[in-house]
Amino acid sequence: MTKTYGTGENQVKALDNATFSIEKGQFVLIVGSSGSGKSTLLNMIGLLDRPTKGKVFIDGTDTTKLSENKISAFRNKKLGFIFQFSNLLTDLTVLENVLLPRQIAGTNGSAQKDAQDLLKTVGLESQMNKRANKISGGQAQRVAIARGLINNPSIVLADEPTGNLDSVTSGMVIQLMKSMAKKLNQTFVIVTHEPEHFGDVDKIITIKDGRAFEGEQPAEMEVIA
Ligand SMILES: Nc1ncnc2c1ncn2[C@@H]1O[C@H](COP(=O)(O)OP(=O)(O)OP(=O)(O)O)[C@@H](O)[C@H]1O
Ligand SMILES: [Mg+2]
Repeated sequence: MTKTYGTGENQVKALDNATFSIEKGQFVLIVGSSGSGKSTLLNMIGLLDRPTKGKVFIDGTDTTKLSENKISAFRNKKLGFIFQFSNLLTDLTVLENVLLPRQIAGTNGSAQKDAQDLLKTVGLESQMNKRANKISGGQAQRVAIARGLINNPSIVLADEPTGNLDSVTSGMVIQLMKSMAKKLNQTFVIVTHEPEHFGDVDKIITIKDGRAFEGEQPAEMEVIA
């Protein structure tokens, strides 16, 4: 897909025919230098924005053909998001923050229990009823993970989820995401500047100048002496 921002002289080609595929259940990292197009790519996969040219297929559906309403429904049902800044609503409790996407999706059913279970899994059982501005950065990021998973999304998208954490907390959050991925057979697509901290993953996609390459250091990027 191709994504161009702006017009005329201000035009920026953030993605330039970036083409790749991800299999269900894969744990995938997206790496590349600042400004290379990683977040743009994630926004396209996450249906938060549309490509200027090209298509995004999810579970066999050509999402570029869906209306705005259908896209929202699709996003709520299939996708979970974890951002670099946890973006919690500070007026709400930890538990309420995790419940929010579920309320938006309108599937309340066993919501309370599911949210509590997820918060237990991320080790925040004792913090559930605290207000979201009364917890640490690492805890907030774990809340964000629980919130990203509450709708049981088949695909979890994370943009530098450990970008603001110290190395110990970051390691914990990474292990947590890996174990959740295995346990729930979810697809994870994670933008990161620290792929070495993730250990073994199924695939690494490198973005360079808006183009996608498989592998951490694709042949085209090797320095020829
Ligand atoms: N909303 C926007 N409007 C105009 N240009 C944009 C917009 N978002 C991104 N860009 C430009 O598109 C290019 C890719 O940006 P993107 O945010 O995808 O990079 P990134 O790889 O995520 O970088 P970083 O690692 O710094 O987060 C950059 O040149 C950026 O300036
Ligand atoms: Mg980015």
